[in-house]
Amino acid sequence: MSALWNAIGRRLSFTLDPETAHGLALSGLKAGAIPAGKPHDDPRLGVMAAGLAFAYPLGVAAGFDKNAEVPDALIALGFGFSEVGTTTPLPQPGNPRPRIFRLTRDRAVINRLGFNNEGHDAAFARLVARRGRGVVGVNIGANKDADDRIADYVTGIRRFYTLASYFTVNISSPNTPGLRDLQGRARLAELLARIDEARAIEAEIHKRAVPVLLKIAPDITEADLDDIVAEVTDKSLDGMIVSNTTLSRTGLSRDPGEAGGLSGQPLFERSTVMLAKTRERIGPEMTLIGAGGVDSAETALAKIEAGADLVQLYTGMIYSGPDIARTINRGLSAALDRSGAASIGALRDSKTAEWAAKPLPG
Ligand SMILES: Cc1cc2nc3c(=O)[nH]c(=O)nc-3n(C[C@H](O)[C@H](O)[C@H](O)COP(=O)(O)O)c2cc1C
Repeated sequence: MSALWNAIGRRLSFTLDPETAHGLALSGLKAGAIPAGKPHDDPRLGVMAAGLAFAYPLGVAAGFDKNAEVPDALIALGFGFSEVGTTTPLPQPGNPRPRIFRLTRDRAVINRLGFNNEGHDAAFARLVARRGRGVVGVNIGANKDADDRIADYVTGIRRFYTLASYFTVNISSPNTPGLRDLQGRARLAELLARIDEARAIEAEIHKRAVPVLLKIAPDITEADLDDIVAEVTDKSLDGMIVSNTTLSRTGLSRDPGEAGGLSGQPLFERSTVMLAKTRERIGPEMTLIGAGGVDSAETALAKIEAGADLVQLYTGMIYSGPDIARTINRGLSAALDRSGAASIGALRDSKTAEWAAKPLPG
């Protein structure tokens, strides 16, 4: 499949504008046109995190399946989990097109989608109807025009409580003006307190505690990170996702001058340094998911060594195709063979101090 992708699929998909190509990929997955293949059988890749069992440490990051159309088809490609959303209470169109840009030479993407999605009702209906049993996280956000953005997150928790394996509270998209202000200490304290309250009510009704993770931007200072980790710990969240896209243009061979969040290879260093700094602050118990520039077994392993329990990717799949999960799973098994470690989790934190000591790229 990867040879076929390299020969035909990628060239064909790159002749289309990125959003059209993405729509085609979703249609292909829905129609079963992208073959799932045999599962990679290696129990050493299994991870227990936030009380959930993952067959593999690699998942699909939010944004690929905003409307919960293909979570199980993605898992069938060899991902250990998929994260749907960001979903907002009401449907919204997002920013005018074009709003996704490929930076092919840098294996990167800039997007300024702005939470385009069909809203809670559509995602809810699809998740109710799904038959798969894999781990599916629900990434929740706020409508651009909401009077009370925090209330939108509370609505998300309550609406999807019986359907989500875990929740991601996304306050780190750069494309909804003012959203990242929720990362400031006072607003974050209020947001997390209200989420904690909603979760406690639902947990009491359903007798099940659904894990909640906070997804942060890689563009914060270390002092901001201190505050965020303190609030996450104080409000009994289960962990964090580090990170969303960056506003920085460091590491690009050419800056195309487009506004939006940058993802892919140039984000790898920044997001991995931020991940390790988060692990050092948050301690060993909390779940951390590393995202940003993962496109190979080496980069996935580096995130785990820097402190991640689990890893996610999006942009890597745009450049390497749908076989990327299987390729990474095989590479992780080979790395375990070489290291002699009994499980992938045993490699976590082996380089946290090294990564955390690096300065954040300018
Ligand atoms: C086109 C696109 C859309 C995205 N949409 C979302 C989103 O809706 N919610 C979210 O939390 N992250 C979103 N992201 C960020 C990814 O989930 C991920 O955190 C980021 O891209 C870094 O991973 P990567 O380098 O593997 O792409 C999006 C990324 C891309 C490229």
